[in-house]
Amino acid sequence: MTKETKKVEAAPVKKRKDEVKARLIALIRSSVPVIYVRCPEELRFEKQLLQIALKLEPVRLVRFHTVTYGVTEPHVKGKKVDDAALSPTGERVLDGQAVSPLRGLEWAMNNARGSLEGASAPTILVMRDTSRGIAGSDVALRSLRDAIRTLRSAPVKTTVIMLSPTTMPPDDARAEVGFVDWPLPDEEDRVGILASTLNAANYSRNEDRKLPAPENGERDKILGACAGLTAEQMSNAIAVSIAESNRVDADAVLSWKAEEVRKLGLEYIEPDPTLEVGGLDRLRKFLDDERALFTPKAREYGGLRLPRGIFIAGLSGTGKSLCARYCASRWGYPLIRLDNSMLLGSHVGESEAKTAAILRNLTAMAPCVVMLDEVEKVFSGAGSAGARSDGGTKRAVFGQFLTWLAEQEGCFVVATANDIETLVREAPEFVNKHRFDEIFFVNLPTLRERKEIAAVHIKRRKRNPADFDLNAIAGASENLSGAEIESAIQAGLVHAFMDGGREPTTADFVYACQHIVPLVKTASAAVHALKEWAKGRCQLATTPEETNEPPKDEGEVAHRDIESGSGEGN
Ligand SMILES: Nc1ncnc2c1ncn2[C@@H]1O[C@H](COP(=O)(O)OP(=O)(O)OP(=O)(O)O)[C@@H](O)[C@H]1O
Ligand SMILES: [Mg+2]
Repeated sequence: MTKETKKVEAAPVKKRKDEVKARLIALIRSSVPVIYVRCPEELRFEKQLLQIALKLEPVRLVRFHTVTYGVTEPHVKGKKVDDAALSPTGERVLDGQAVSPLRGLEWAMNNARGSLEGASAPTILVMRDTSRGIAGSDVALRSLRDAIRTLRSAPVKTTVIMLSPTTMPPDDARAEVGFVDWPLPDEEDRVGILASTLNAANYSRNEDRKLPAPENGERDKILGACAGLTAEQMSNAIAVSIAESNRVDADAVLSWKAEEVRKLGLEYIEPDPTLEVGGLDRLRKFLDDERALFTPKAREYGGLRLPRGIFIAGLSGTGKSLCARYCASRWGYPLIRLDNSMLLGSHVGESEAKTAAILRNLTAMAPCVVMLDEVEKVFSGAGSAGARSDGGTKRAVFGQFLTWLAEQEGCFVVATANDIETLVREAPEFVNKHRFDEIFFVNLPTLRERKEIAAVHIKRRKRNPADFDLNAIAGASENLSGAEIESAIQAGLVHAFMDGGREPTTADFVYACQHIVPLVKTASAAVHALKEWAKGRCQLATTPEETNEPPKDEGEVAHRDIESGSGEGN
């Protein structure tokens, strides 16, 4: 197979890895003096950089700077680079005085000028501890800009790389430096990491106790489970699985990963194949159809863009979050929930770094479903129209999120909101139609949907829906949301149990439905605003239904979509 055909077949993540590497090489070649590299894996990046440096023309030496040892030289024999060569004990100290970042930069300038003791040679200096140091003060910033000027014009090619998991170029020097966001291990890397971790585990084992390589199906599951992990996390996950069960077990790796996801402050929700949604037929069909675009067949077909996600607006309790869970479960993808507190840190600047880390991990976790609940709370005050005191931070996070949404491939975002007024007022950019594959409006359930929802919840409570008069229950639950119907079913069951532990009857459920005060009555102004907004903008989540029930909502304004959509005027 030629290189060319290989490229066409490659997954999107793989292409990104090559692109990023090519960009770094181009930056070094074109003598950009300072390059910021954001990467959570120092060691893996450094190893790759050593390989890159050898292939450059002229070949570059690679030196490191730390605030503990100053400038050091890795102990590399020939082309082989192992972890020990890049550890403090394996490296040779070249300038132990240059521990401060400023002295590190000075070392680079001296190298560039050819004024180092001994001969200067084309060099890349990787500064490992500068994420705060350089941005921290005027003096530091000045040294950075001095270095930029000197390195650009000096005779000996010298590049400084600022390496850290969270690094961002300081605002004042952003235009003059390069920036590269180094990706996490991709599928190909993961194959290598799995093999080398197994080798390491087998190294000290007797011949008869050697672990076999996992079989193809299991191997793919393990590799999938490791997506989004750093090389180190991945080998830890595998090592833990081996220690626990004497083999590499995909489920053990998956639960280890769930912990890692949680450590990042993200919520990882396991798929639940038994999850059922009543009604919302159009929305469900849309999700079922979108799934086809993630298949290898779609990738082979070529030219198809992966779906980015949907936005669901609707009343509280109508099954918006449930649809996100349904989507992940049906597709067999992990579901990751993002919320307000995860994206917004307490300090200025912290949020942006945190968001960048989260978004990068989401991308690496692809394919996955990302649930962004209550966007109106996350982004209120963030859009162009927002003017709150924390607007700056929120705006930055909001901007990052929108850019990510437009550029990412492989994450399917399900964003939901029920207070559309706030969202439209404070972050109107978010609900722009082109951001999402579709915008849905979820109304209160129709008669048919209420029957389905009641059946789902009766079944979930280990009773047979056919034993009850679903028409009567649906009739009694007019104006109730899915969540309220669920509460009524639960209440009916509790009532029957309290009443001498007998089995529930239709009458129990009907009675419970009649005694719930529906949200539509308690919050009708907000409900009305939501419906007004949805007109003409959204797809209806439910197929319109013929019904004789009269409209219930006083403020209802006739409109083709919404009117016929609810079929009941609610
Ligand atoms: N269409 C439905 N079918 C079955 N169950 C439903 C449906 N709608 C709601 N429910 C039940 O109500 C619960 C709450 O619904 P969900 O959390 O999805 O509402 P939501 O629209 O996200 O509300 P909010 O806007 O308050 O977040 C669900 O977990 C489910 O048990
Ligand atoms: Mg919700």
